[in-house]
Amino acid sequence: MIKKGIILSGGLGTRMSPLTKAVNKQLLPIYDKPLIYYPLSIFLLAKIKNILIIVNKGQVDQYRKILPDGKRLGINIEFMEQSTPKGLPDAFILGKDFIGKDNVALILGDNFFYGQNLTKTLINNCKLKKGAKILLHKVSKPDLYGVAKIDKKNNVKKIIEKPKNYLSDLAVTGLYFFDNNVVKYARQLKPSKRGEIEITDLLNIYRSKGFLKADFIGRGGAWLDTGSIEDFYKTSAFVSAIENRQGFKIACIEEIALNNRWINKNDIRKAIKFYGNCIYSKYLSKLIN
Ligand code: DAU
Repeated sequence: MIKKGIILSGGLGTRMSPLTKAVNKQLLPIYDKPLIYYPLSIFLLAKIKNILIIVNKGQVDQYRKILPDGKRLGINIEFMEQSTPKGLPDAFILGKDFIGKDNVALILGDNFFYGQNLTKTLINNCKLKKGAKILLHKVSKPDLYGVAKIDKKNNVKKIIEKPKNYLSDLAVTGLYFFDNNVVKYARQLKPSKRGEIEITDLLNIYRSKGFLKADFIGRGGAWLDTGSIEDFYKTSAFVSAIENRQGFKIACIEEIALNNRWINKNDIRKAIKFYGNCIYSKYLSKLIN
């Protein structure tokens, strides 16, 4: 059972400069809330209560303004700084003590997931005992992502980062489930030509041992990577359309914590006070009245 999760929320966000010069990308808005709420909500839906958020050097205070304390969500949130963006597997080198002897999930701070069966998929994948699991999603431009080829039993046969030649149209999304060997394997990685340690190299270690499985978000689900300004606006438009049509909020972290019975009505009242007079608070007060 996976009960710990790491959100990798650093990076320079150079593709979105000047917006990201003063503010970290994951603190910028996707419609009505900061981007970081979306990956965080995924862990809450997966019932992961122990969360490490890795941020850029000098940015913990910015994050604490919006996520001051995990207790208000009934969870444990720790922060850690990454000195420079050394690559995604650095999460397991930095997070060694946080992980301890447990298995762990990783989500990239700029990934957005939404879909009907998502919670079920998340909880199922958190049952992982041995090996690693990735979530795949069909995309029209696979060359922008890590791409996987699988067999009939969903074993991953090949995985390539941003392939120049067509491999498949199954992108590797930014949500990964690992057994505890990930700490050891991450330390074995050597930087690639672009000077970073690569998540695909880490996944390839599991694949070469026959321990890398795939699961799917499925056709009814959405996975959006908010890497560019264009993607940011498209994702905001998606959230706005769903929220305004249905009257439900996507990634309202207090609502998920309340549904999980990790917090009570009084905690929601405290959250309303924290946010002040805004639409988000009005939504929270509707939940308890
Ligand atoms: O979004 C899914 C894709 O994410 C996967 O398909 C690819 O296999 C995977 O390599 C990754 O590709 P990206 O090119 O999108 O990764 P990027 O360098 O943009 O980093 C993703 C997030 O992680 C971003 O929010 C910044 C953060 N990050 C990244 C690095 C390299 C860190 O916090 N620290 C880092 O060292």
